[in-house]
Amino acid sequence: PYLKDIFGLTDMEAHIRQLYSLKQVVIVPGDSEQSESTLKELGRAGAASLRKYVGAEDVIAVAGGTTMAEVAEGLNVSSQWKGNVFVPARGGLGERVELQANTVASIMAKKTGSSYRLLHVPDHLGEEAYHTLMQDSNIQEIIQFIRKSRIVLHGIGDAMTMARRRKTDENAMRQLAKAGSLAEAFGYYFDRDGQVVHNIPTVGLRLEDIMKTEVVIGVAGGRSKGEAIAAVLKFGHEDVLVTDEAAAMEIIRHS
Ligand code: BG6
Repeated sequence: PYLKDIFGLTDMEAHIRQLYSLKQVVIVPGDSEQSESTLKELGRAGAASLRKYVGAEDVIAVAGGTTMAEVAEGLNVSSQWKGNVFVPARGGLGERVELQANTVASIMAKKTGSSYRLLHVPDHLGEEAYHTLMQDSNIQEIIQFIRKSRIVLHGIGDAMTMARRRKTDENAMRQLAKAGSLAEAFGYYFDRDGQVVHNIPTVGLRLEDIMKTEVVIGVAGGRSKGEAIAAVLKFGHEDVLVTDEAAAMEIIRHS
């Protein structure tokens, strides 16, 4: 038998797939928070899943983060990727350059031999700046292009961990906590029931675009993220989940 069967991972995959009516669930053994090799395995599994769903001439929107950076590492050049374009899902969210969606999109394009287009929008946009930017025809054009994405590939984070990583100020942190923020994905914060409680103001894919996207692939692992992953699954617009054993047990516990 496969190792997965011995650990009961195949059953867990089927269970989560049914719970949230997903197209595919992949669970790698171990805890990617504890083990570097499990994290690499998660990245490889994320890459394999993307390969499974990508077609010809697809626009693929990617979010940022360390997990997405691992997925990028797991990708290789092949003729399958010809004509595909990687784009960032959204504009700046306050991440370090290495972890930004723009960076991840360009690395994925380079690793696969496909092309990319970037979205140059500053982080921490105010209302006024946002509206001015939206008037710009170049920005409008790339946003329209991003909204054609057939695939969205993203990580999932614990809300407070992500808020701290993005250097969110004290006041906003309190607001997030008060609203019951538990999970974060592509700049949206979700509560335990999968309701959106906050959105970082930037441009790119809106929630309604993500809801309409044909294939939404979430890649996230680690025990501490399990509850957050369950919250994003409850949001109800994921199609594919790639996770690890430690997170999967928590997902089931919090379902
Ligand atoms: C952010 C993404 O960059 O990274 C989010 O916009 C995601 O979708 C987060 O929740 C996760 O980061 P990491 O480093 O835990 O993979």
